[in-house]
Amino acid sequence: MTGIIGNQWTGVILAAGRGSRMKSRLPKVLHQVCGRELIKYPVELMHQLEINNIIIVVSPENIAAIQQTLGDGFEYVVQYDPKGTGDALERAMPMILGGDHQVLVMNGDVPLLRSQSVEKLCLSHSNKLALMSLLTVSDVIEQELGIIHRDIEGRITHILEAADGPDFESDSFLEANVGVYCFDPKFLGRSINKITSNKSGERYITSLAAIADEDGTEINAENCSKLEELLGVNNRVELSRVEAIERQRILEHWMLEGVTIQDPASVYIDHDVVIGQDSIIFPNTALRGTTQIGEDCQIGPNSLIDNSVIGDRNRIICSHLESSTIESGVTVGPFSHLRPGSHLESNVYIGNYVEVKNTWLAEGSVAGHFSYLGDATIGSDVNIGAGTITCNFDGINKHNTLIEPGAFIGCDTLLVAPVTVGARASTGAGSVVIKDVPESRLVVGVPARIIR
Ligand code: UD1
Ligand code: CA
Repeated sequence: MTGIIGNQWTGVILAAGRGSRMKSRLPKVLHQVCGRELIKYPVELMHQLEINNIIIVVSPENIAAIQQTLGDGFEYVVQYDPKGTGDALERAMPMILGGDHQVLVMNGDVPLLRSQSVEKLCLSHSNKLALMSLLTVSDVIEQELGIIHRDIEGRITHILEAADGPDFESDSFLEANVGVYCFDPKFLGRSINKITSNKSGERYITSLAAIADEDGTEINAENCSKLEELLGVNNRVELSRVEAIERQRILEHWMLEGVTIQDPASVYIDHDVVIGQDSIIFPNTALRGTTQIGEDCQIGPNSLIDNSVIGDRNRIICSHLESSTIESGVTVGPFSHLRPGSHLESNVYIGNYVEVKNTWLAEGSVAGHFSYLGDATIGSDVNIGAGTITCNFDGINKHNTLIEPGAFIGCDTLLVAPVTVGARASTGAGSVVIKDVPESRLVVGVPARIIR
C-alpha cells in the first residue's frame, strides 16, 4: 500500500447498530469471519491505508466488549440510541470538526471489502477535491441495500434505502451503496444536521447524497471491481456466505504461497494463521487463531490446531493442539492432545493417546503410547513408557513433576507429584513413585523402593 493518503485522514467506523437481525446476545460486529471479529476488518483496512486516527462509534451495550477486542489506540464515541447511521456519524462530529482531515467512514459489517477499492475512492476524493465520495457496486440484484439514483447526466441525486419502499423492479440490475464514504469536514459540518428522520425515526447517512445534490455539490463515486466486496453481514445466512468467500480467499492465498492443501473443501484456515513453504495440509483440518506453521510440515488429516507455534518439518496426525509450541522434527499423533502450555523441543516423539498439559519435553524425548503428562518438566532423551501418568492433582492443589535427562520411565508408572526422577534413573513397570528417585537409580514396586 502506498500510504499516500495517510496522515491527513480520520477514519470513522460505525458499529453502534443493534444488529437485531443476528438474533444474538453477542454484538454483531464481534461475530467472527474466519476467526476474526467483523469490526477488525475495517480497522485493518484503515491501518493498511495508514490511517491511524480512528474513531469507533459504539453503543453503551457493546462498548466494553469492543474495547476489549480492539484494545487501545482508538477513540470510542457512544451513540446512546441507535437512531441510524447518520445519527451515528453525528456522534463523532465533535472529534472531526475544527480539523482539516478528510473523513473516511465505513460500516462495521462489510468484511470483504478490499483495501484497493477503498484506496481508489480516497485517492479520487483527494485528487478531485471532492466534498463527498462514495463506493458503489453495479449490476446488483439485491433487496436490502441503499440504491444509487442518478440523473440523465449520470450525477448521483440520492440514495433510496430498501427499508423505505423501493420504487424499482426487484429483478432489474441496480447500482448499490457499499457503505464506504469520504467527506470533506466542512461539508459534513454544514450538512449533517440537515439529515431528517424517516418514518421509523432513523436518520440515514445516505440522506447526505440528496443534501449534497440540493446544495449543488457533485458526489464523486468509484466502483468496486468485485461484486462480493459489497456483501454485508446482517443475519447469520449472510455471515455464512461471507465466511465461505473469505475462507476461499485465504486458502487460495496459501496455495499460491507454496502450501499444498489436498482437499480445500475440508480445510479451514483462520485469517491470522501463517504457513511456511512446502507444508502440506491434509483433509479435515482446521488451523485457527494465531497458529503459525513452519516449512515442510505435514498437518492432518483430522487435526485441529489452535493458537500454536509449530516449527519446520513437523508431523501432526489426527490430533488437537491448543496454545502449544513445537520446535522441529517432531511427530504428534495419531489421536493425541496437546493442551495449553505444552512445549516440545526438536525431535520429540508423541505417539497415540497422549495428553500433554503445561509440560516441557526437551530434545529427543519420547512418549509413544497413552500417557498423561501434566505440569511436568521432562529433560532430553527421556523415555516415557506406555501408560505413564503424572499424578499432578491431589484434589486441592496442582504439583509439578521433574524428570531429568536420560531417565527411563517404565510402563504404567504413576509419578505422584511433587516428585523428581533423577538423571538416567529408571522406574520399573507398574511403579507408584511417591518419593524422589536419585540419579541413576532403579525403583520398582508399589510403593516403589530402592532395590540396588
Ligand atoms: C447500510 C446503508 C445502505 C448500504 C448498506 C451496505 C444506511 C442507511 N444504509 O444499510 O445504503 O447499501 O449499509 O451494507 O446507512 N449503525 C450504527 N448506528 C445506528 C445504525 C447502524 O452505528 O444507529 C452501524 C451498524 O452497526 C453497522 C452500520 O452502521 O455497522 C450499518 O448499519 P446497518 O443497519 O447494517 O445498515 P444497512 O441496513 O446494512
Ligand atoms: Ca449492514
